[in-house]
This record gives sequence, structure tokens and C-alpha cells, in this order.
Amino acid sequence: MWGMEKTLDHYIKLPENRYERVSFRKLMGHVIPSTTYTTHGLYMYPAKFIPHVVRFALEKYLRGKREPWVFDPFAGSGTVAIEATLAGVNYLIWDLNPITELLVRASTWRDEVSLRELEVDFDYQGEFLPKWRNLNYWHPPEFLEILSRVWAYYHEVVPDEIKPLLAIPLLKVTRYFSYSDEKIAKLYKSKYARKKVAELLKTDYRKGMEEMYLKEAGRVVEKVRDYISRKPKEVKGIVHAGVDSIEMELERDVNLLLTSPPYLQAQEYIRSFKLELFWLGYTEEEIRRLSKLEIPYRKIPEDEVLSELYWEYRERVKALNHSKLLQIYDCYFRSLARFLNNVHENVTERMAIFVGPVKVRGIRVPIDEILKEHLESLGWVHEKTYIDEIVARRLFRSKTNPATGLPDERTPTEHLLIMRR
Ligand SMILES: C[S@@+](CC[C@H](N)C(=O)[O-])C[C@H]1O[C@@H](n2cnc3c(N)ncnc32)[C@H](O)[C@@H]1O
Repeated sequence: MWGMEKTLDHYIKLPENRYERVSFRKLMGHVIPSTTYTTHGLYMYPAKFIPHVVRFALEKYLRGKREPWVFDPFAGSGTVAIEATLAGVNYLIWDLNPITELLVRASTWRDEVSLRELEVDFDYQGEFLPKWRNLNYWHPPEFLEILSRVWAYYHEVVPDEIKPLLAIPLLKVTRYFSYSDEKIAKLYKSKYARKKVAELLKTDYRKGMEEMYLKEAGRVVEKVRDYISRKPKEVKGIVHAGVDSIEMELERDVNLLLTSPPYLQAQEYIRSFKLELFWLGYTEEEIRRLSKLEIPYRKIPEDEVLSELYWEYRERVKALNHSKLLQIYDCYFRSLARFLNNVHENVTERMAIFVGPVKVRGIRVPIDEILKEHLESLGWVHEKTYIDEIVARRLFRSKTNPATGLPDERTPTEHLLIMRR
């Protein structure tokens, strides 16, 4: 059972009955055909949950409960919201990224929709230009002329309710017709992207944009139809996007906290979504404010991490003599400690936290064990840790981490930590 973990001295000492190796894909394969089934993956989102894990936790811990609530404070693309509606569970979700709201609204859309309803006007007589100093760095003037019309149409004509469905294909077109490398989640003007734009400029790019829009809108319609065909239940759903989860109070009791927090050396999400946020109408000031709150690059909270392992590994990270890494390490755990301290009393039954034991310069930090110890200090009991091999979870492709400038080492297994009251 512990074959792959041999290098990890810490885990080897742990009792096997509480640490179980599983494949969530196999375990939930009878319910979930693929990671992008139904409305999952409507728009790219780095380090998404695989829906199998979410459905597993919902079925195992909430099945048969009356009006259960699940809570995901780092909800990203809203994987938990989609699975909750399908499993008949009420959901409360938070995320710093304002795009979460749009993604959740689009991916839990429950009315019939046709391609006609998603039509947009690329000749619209209006102009919308994002309030972005770097706009000309990201789009050549030829594309901007057309994008500004279709986005004016979006902002001025499209009714608010249906906006999320149109935003998905429109954002895809906008990202493709830009100097950003759409194959990388991070906003990055690569050599490939410059070449792509140069080639596109030689073509009938206006027609190209319309064709791409239609194709992507068609994909949205298909995915929404598939979602409706799976008969999502009438559940309550609350979304707070653009919020700092470590400072929020839980507004109600929830049965299960189910989340996948940012990585220890996560890519900056707000920065990655800049282009999208600007076209959706966010200002430079708002985007800057949100960037500053991101875990683990924010100001370090004062909350103590109540875990010996935290201190043990802190010494090892400290010995690397790299102040930025130590700062990230502290910020990461203190932010999560602060968050847990704030909300844990309103979580009535369980927490299920999905993390990877990432490596920091060769040191594999057992994040789940540190969080486990902190929660034990708050009175929680360790019930189980499921260990899954990651197969196709979408990870960032960049070789160096933009925040630290260091090579990124990705996690070979991921752990679902289960704590109970
Ligand atoms: C690993 S991702 C979660 C992905 C999600 N499970 C999904 O399936 O799409 C971590 C999320 O944490 C969010 N985040 C980072 N700092 C945050 C903060 N201070 N408050 C709230 N969310 C934050 C990021 O925006 C990102 O969406």
C-alpha cells in the first residue's frame, strides 16, 4: 500500500488503517464518466478538483441527510457547486477570483438554451475598451477594433441573466485573439503567441473570430444540455466571489467543508485571469487589490499554526536560506490556520481537504498532516486520509514558478484529509 510513498519518511510511520490508498477515478467511475463530463471544464481553470473526489465526499458524508450543506471556500471553477446540484446538496462557495460567480452560474444553468440565444453582434455600433494600461501590449489594434464592438454588445445589450453563458465563448475568442499563450494558464506573451498573432493577421480574422465564437457557443449549449439531462436537483446555492476567504465569517452552519486550497507554490490566480477580468469590466484598482490578498503571496497573518510538524518543516525550509520561500511557507500555513480558526465552529460534521504534499526544493512538505495537527488542536479528530495518484488533474505547465523564480516540483500523489468533530 505504501509503495509510492517510501521516500516520504513521515508517512511511512503512520497507521495504515487510517491512511488508505485509493483511485477516486476508479471508485467513482460508475457515476462520473470523465473529468470534463457535463459542465465541468466550461472554461480553463488551473488545478481544478477532479469531480470524482467531490462526488465521493458528497455521497459518503452527506447521503441521506436532510437538507445538507457543503461549503467550499476556495471554489475556483465551482466543481463543488456542479456536483452538489447533481447530488442534491445545498452549496455555499467563496473564492477570491471574481470569475467564480460567472463560472458557477454558467455551469449550473438549468434552462433549455439554444445557439440562437447566444448570438452576438461583431458589428455592433458601440465601443467597450477595458480600463487597462497594457491593453495594446496584449491585443493588436486590428483585433481590438472588433473585440471592442462585440464586448460593447455584451455589456450594453445582453440581458444580465444570460451573460455567463455568452461570456464563456467570448472570453475564449478574446484570449485566443491576443498575444497571450492560450496553452498556458498564466498570462504570458510567448514566442508562439507572437507568431500566432502574426499568422492570424494574414487571415480573415474577423471571420475567424465569428467562427470560433459559434463553435465555442455550440460547445456551451451541448454541455448545458448534458447537465440538464442529468436532472440537477432544486438546491439552494450561495456564491461569494471576489472575497478574501481568510477574513470571512461563515454566515450559516454547514455539514461539510470540502475544498482544495491553493498550492503551497501556487500560480497567482488573479494575475492569470487579468485579461478575462478586464474585459468583464473590472478595473486596474480592483484587480490590484485582489492580487494582494492571494494565498500564499499576501501579507502574513498573525495566527499561529498549532502543529509541531509545521515547526519541524519550517526549520528545514529555513535552512535553505531563501527568505522568499520561508515567507511563502509561513504565509501559506498561517493563512489556512486563520481561515480554519474563523470558520471551524460553524462546520457541524466534517472537513474534507484535498491537498498534495508538494516539494519545496526537494523537501516534501506534508501539508495535510500539518493541517491535521492544527485541526486536532482545535478539537477535531482525524478520521481518514485517502491517498490518490494524480493522473490527469490539470496542472500549470510553467517550469519555473513566477513568484519565486524557482523550479516547480509537482506533487506525485494527492491526499484527501478527512477530519470529524
Ligand atoms: C486549487 S484552486 C481551487 C480550484 C477548485 N477546487 C476547482 O475545482 O476549480 C485554489 C483557489 O483558491 C483561491 N484563493 C487564493 N487565495 C484566496 C483567498 N485569500 N481567498 C479566497 N480564495 C483564494 C484561488 O482564486 C483559487 O481559485
